Amino acid sequence: MIEVRQLSKTYETPSEKLRVLTDLDLTVAAGETAAIVGPSGCGKSTLLNLLGALDRPTSGSVKIGDQDISTLTEEQAATFRNHSLGFIFQQQHLLPQLTVLENVLVPRLAGDWQEPAAETEQRARQLLEKVGLGQRLSHLPWQLSGGEKLRTAVARALINRPKLILADEPTGSLDPASTDTVADLLLDLNRDQGVTLIVVTHNADLARRMGKTFELRAGKLHPLITDHNRA
Ligand SMILES: Nc1ncnc2c1ncn2[C@@H]1O[C@H](COP(=O)(O)OP(=O)(O)O)[C@@H](O)[C@H]1O
Ligand SMILES: [Mg+2]
Repeated sequence: MIEVRQLSKTYETPSEKLRVLTDLDLTVAAGETAAIVGPSGCGKSTLLNLLGALDRPTSGSVKIGDQDISTLTEEQAATFRNHSLGFIFQQQHLLPQLTVLENVLVPRLAGDWQEPAAETEQRARQLLEKVGLGQRLSHLPWQLSGGEKLRTAVARALINRPKLILADEPTGSLDPASTDTVADLLLDLNRDQGVTLIVVTHNADLARRMGKTFELRAGKLHPLITDHNRA
């Protein structure tokens, strides 16, 4: 599903060249779940952005499915993101003037979808039901708790039925109970629909629930041997 080879990313700043990723390799099979941990500033978001075709590598290749996404044009990358990926960020970027239901439907506005609008809306309602927001459909983002905002973002990430979900510190600002709920949700999706999951997190409990854990250190990924890796 994901095959990253010799991936490097260097940021050019006026004062220096900042080498963040150096010849990084990563293989994640379809249906696997992986956590990426590491200290702030080590390059986790940089890696996730490269996996999601939000940025381009300095060198190396990123294959998702049978597509080398490091060579896509801007337009192809946008289509790839819209059709194949669910992104969950720490800041959910919900549109403040839209309701919960409308926010979930935003990814359907771009792209050429064959599904009739009424069916899509029905599916959005079901997704929101599943994330426990069936009673919050017409709330505006400011009327939601942090956990509810995140669950809205999760439903939005799922509306296009992605095969791969990339989550960047999704539970960073949540209390333990909401963190568990979100972890349950993501893992249910993995189990029921075979969605591949890559989660960057500082949260040890969340990391432990993923199939494998990697530490990003000195520009490369190192597998962490943990109990769950043996389970
Ligand atoms: N667009 C950019 N230009 C220059 N430096 C950047 C840019 N984005 C990130 N960096 C730097 O690259 C390093 C890794 O950043 P990031 O991937 O966001 O780390 P993490 O997500 O692990 O906290 C940091 O030192 C950060 O300052
Ligand atoms: Mg980050």
